[in-house]
Amino acid sequence: MLGLKKGMLVYDLGSGTGDVVIHLARKYKVKCVGIEIDPLKVLLSKIRISRAKDLRTLIEIERKNFLSVDLSKADAIYLFLSGGTKIMKNLEPKLLRELKEGVKIASYVHSFQKWTPEASVRDIKIYSISNLELNV
Ligand SMILES: C[S@@+](CC[C@H](N)C(=O)[O-])C[C@H]1O[C@@H](n2cnc3c(N)ncnc32)[C@H](O)[C@@H]1O
Repeated sequence: MLGLKKGMLVYDLGSGTGDVVIHLARKYKVKCVGIEIDPLKVLLSKIRISRAKDLRTLIEIERKNFLSVDLSKADAIYLFLSGGTKIMKNLEPKLLRELKEGVKIASYVHSFQKWTPEASVRDIKIYSISNLELNV
């Protein structure tokens, strides 16, 4: 769905305890950056990653608010935000401003209000940054 290939850079915005970044790094050999605001979850995910030799070089976890992180190098974005509509709304202008042409965004459960997904698979909606300006 995200067209992931070895070496691509994927951001998980709100990476929790690292389940998704670990899965993506293992399955697709992509580089992952997990951004997580909760220090305990950051610690747990770092411990999990440090124990797995194959993941150490592929995953970075940063304790930050993703609204203040530069996303301009991302090749793909994943998010599952329990905060729902409000946080998604705050993210819309940031993603449009910072993401490169062609970047895809996968959002689990929650939708962006103003944007039309290019695909939808079960609870995951896929948005392509190339199509979004047309929908704003
Ligand atoms: C529902 S969990 C998703 C965890 C993981 N991405 C997954 O799919 O399993 C959402 C996470 O986003 C984090 N979060 C919410 N707002 C955030 C923000 N502004 N910056 C960084 N992390 C945030 C929460 O602490 C929580 O761990």
